[in-house]
Amino acid sequence: MKPATKFIHAGAAPDPSTGAIMTPIFQTSTYVQEAPGKHKGFEYARSQNPTRKALEEALAIIENGKFGLAFSSGVAATDAVVKLLEPGDEVIAASDMYGGTYRLFTKVFEKFGIRFIYTDTANTDNVAKAVTKKTKLIWLETPTNPLMSITDIEAISVISKKAGAWLCVDNTFASPFLQNPLDLGADIVMHSSTKYLGGHSDVIQGALVMNDASLREKLYFIQKSCGAVPGPMDCFLVLRGIKTLHLRMRQHSENGKIIAQWLRNNSKVDKVYWPGFTDHPGFAIAKKQMRDFGGMISFELKDDSIEETRRVLSSTKLFALAESLGGVESLINHPASMTHASIPREERMKNGLRDALIRLSVGIEDAEDLVADLDNAIK
Ligand SMILES: Cc1ncc(COP(=O)(O)O)c(C=O)c1O
Repeated sequence: MKPATKFIHAGAAPDPSTGAIMTPIFQTSTYVQEAPGKHKGFEYARSQNPTRKALEEALAIIENGKFGLAFSSGVAATDAVVKLLEPGDEVIAASDMYGGTYRLFTKVFEKFGIRFIYTDTANTDNVAKAVTKKTKLIWLETPTNPLMSITDIEAISVISKKAGAWLCVDNTFASPFLQNPLDLGADIVMHSSTKYLGGHSDVIQGALVMNDASLREKLYFIQKSCGAVPGPMDCFLVLRGIKTLHLRMRQHSENGKIIAQWLRNNSKVDKVYWPGFTDHPGFAIAKKQMRDFGGMISFELKDDSIEETRRVLSSTKLFALAESLGGVESLINHPASMTHASIPREERMKNGLRDALIRLSVGIEDAEDLVADLDNAIK
């Protein structure tokens, strides 16, 4: 199927009892059994729910995978992946990534004896050098949040296979419309479905997609044992969001390109982080593994004082100052004090995440209005 057909029809079959074209919201906690153990495949809603099942099928289809699993949040999906590991196992993770992932790794899992080795994964050699006999998982984000760094998924998958480790890619920033990590050799794709999959800033949810049936069984066991499942209403919202993913991502990418170029030509703006620039260090790889460059952009002002950074952050009208990303409306965010505040400042600075960095989630409004809003705030 071509993308538009795939996104619209993924996981959607008319409801067998009524013919309803939209998947019903099965708002139930349990299912009546005819006799003990004699049921229709649904026993208890932490383990199975028909709305969630339709979404999980859709997730698999849109990521070119065999199995999908939906979680109550993106971090709950990440949590399930790390629970595949044992004390003493090592994880190689990107040094630039979402602050909440870093917090989960360092503050929750380190004390259970799992070791995290952070490195700039854009340099494939760094990953190869970090591999030991204990490496069980390689965790990538590409593009990274918030510095828009690009990692070669295919090259890293060669390393992970040789090491006998799983490769999991957080594909939140790209979305399945722009990038499909399983096609490039990843074992697991993770999403914060809160973002582009939902697309309307009205749901918190996470997803994992994989091809290997035994890996799916392990992750399903963790999902039902630990219980971080999404409710049926939220599954319905993400299913509905997926139907327009292709249209939204095209517009996010088109607007992203206009804003990135406008920022670069603005005399008040210093560095602009966007993988669509031909001189971005990851441009060639982004072009190879992504279909377009998306709507996420970060930048720093020439006057990089905290006062000026804060003034700009508080001066936009259309770009709302808020955490999160990937909704139809544009957002502006200050990673150092918001999404990445959980990373100690010296760690952040070491990885190039300065206090002056501003992150934009470019929405799908008219680009002219977005440019005018930024122009008004930056001058
Ligand atoms: C790249 C990335 N991964 C994971 C997450 C966590 O997802 P959630 O907020 O749905 O738990 C986020 C949230 O901002 C994110 O930006």
